[in-house]
Parts: sequence; structure tokens; C-alpha cells
Amino acid sequence: MKNNDYTLRLETEKDYHKTETMAREAFWNLSVPGCSEHLFMHALRQHEAFIPQLDFVAELDGEMIGCVMYSESYLIDENGNKKTVLTMGPVCVHPKHQRKGISRALLEHTFGLALEMGYDTVINFGNPDNYVARGYKSCRKYNVCFEGDIYPAALLVKELKEGALDGRKWFYHPNDADAICNDEKAVDDYDKHFPPKVKAWQPSQEEFYIHSHSVINRE
Ligand SMILES: CC(C)(COP(=O)(O)OP(=O)(O)OC[C@H]1O[C@@H](n2cnc3c(N)ncnc32)[C@H](O)[C@@H]1OP(=O)(O)O)[C@@H](O)C(=O)NCCC(=O)NCCS
Repeated sequence: MKNNDYTLRLETEKDYHKTETMAREAFWNLSVPGCSEHLFMHALRQHEAFIPQLDFVAELDGEMIGCVMYSESYLIDENGNKKTVLTMGPVCVHPKHQRKGISRALLEHTFGLALEMGYDTVINFGNPDNYVARGYKSCRKYNVCFEGDIYPAALLVKELKEGALDGRKWFYHPNDADAICNDEKAVDDYDKHFPPKVKAWQPSQEEFYIHSHSVINRE
């Protein structure tokens, strides 16, 4: 799909290193000193929950400038009924190309495809600023929580089909594709496949801490 001057297309194996290099630029020092998203992408592509049909990149003049990936997770209601949903992420755009509508195009395109594939709900953990304009709402609004009735402020839900979650209480069980990112040695080892970059503190890491440790306690 052509969009002004860039193209949205499925990622291929030949793109993997370029896409991860771009993602590393987008995420570096953003949430923590350094980042682990390039390893996450590498692990996700090999995970059983990964959905290759929704693995999209944005390309400009042969350069990777954005990407989005999805995997399957599930919700369980209070009667034990299970529902498959999409977990979105990572999504990122190269810093030189941010705020030009590229993630919007990637998300809107893949949301449409996901709906055609039969998915009706997308969930991700992230900074609400980046997602509310795409129709995401707080998990609390849809009664989606983690076990223990925890409604994280950063747990965001989008119904691709209105009413898909029908108001009942759901417990979110994300897949474990990102588990390897907790292994610092694995992250550092994988990072050696990329050009050296300096880890440093920046204020967005405090913002990330606040978002990722906040819960919504009131309706
Ligand atoms: C977050 C990110 C993917 C957004 O991609 P982008 O192409 O720059 O975003 P877009 O230009 O498509 O803007 C998307 C929407 O986000 C909102 N938005 C963008 N920047 C914003 C900001 N600084 N503050 C508040 N809202 C913002 C806008 O409302 C926009 O909505 P609109 O299309 O209705 O105007 C990109 O900035 C990025 O890669 N950041 C680093 C990695 C990251 O944070 N990924 C997400 C992990 S949670």
C-alpha cells in the first residue's frame, strides 16, 4: 500500500535486521537505559503466538522507517470462558520520521486486516498519549484487568468491533513472548549484533515508570 511517499508492506526475512535496527533507534533510552525491543521482535517472530500476516513495515527509499507487530493473547471471563484477542506491539517509527502520521497509517491498516481475519479486540500496554487518538480506551472502561483485579493505567484496549467485550469482566492473559527481555545478559548479548550505542538516563524513563506503575482504582 502506497501512502504519499512511503510504502506499507509485510515484513520479510530480509528486513529483520533493518527493522530491528530502526526499532532500536526508536526505543533507545526511552523507557530504560538502552532498550530490549529489538530482542523482543526477534523472539516474537519465533513465538507460537506471533501473527506474520500482521507484521507490517513502513519503508521509504529502501529504508525502514516504521513497524508494527501483533501476537495472540487471551481473555478469560469469570465463568472460565476464553476469548482470543490481539496483543499489539511493538510499534515504532524512526525518530526522524515521527509525528507525521506513520504509526497512525500502520495501525489503521493493520486494524482493518485484523478485523477481516476475525479478531475483534486489540490490547497493549503503553503510554496512553500514543494510543487514545486511535480509539483505545482504558482497560477499566471495558472491565479488562489482570488477575487480582488490577487495572493498570497503561493497559489499553481497543474494540475493533463495537460491543465485542460486552461489559462482562475479563482477565487479561498476555502471551510470554517478551519474557526473554527480563534476562539482562540475553539483551546485552543480542545488542552486540548492532552498532555500539551509549546507554543513558533521560526524563522519558521517569514517565515510563509512572505510567507502568499506575493503576486505576475508581470507575
Ligand atoms: C509512539 C510512536 C509509535 C508514534 O508514531 P508516530 O508515527 O510518531 O505517530 P503519529 O504521527 O502517527 O501520531 C499518532 C497519534 O499519536 C498522538 N501523538 C503523537 N505524538 C504525541 C505526543 N507527543 N503527545 C500526545 N499525543 C501524541 C497524536 O494524537 C496522533 O494522533 P492523530 O493521528 O489523531 O493526530 C513513535 O513516536 C515512536 O516510535 N516512539 C518511540 C517508540 C514508542 O514509544 N513506541 C510505542 C511504545 S508504547
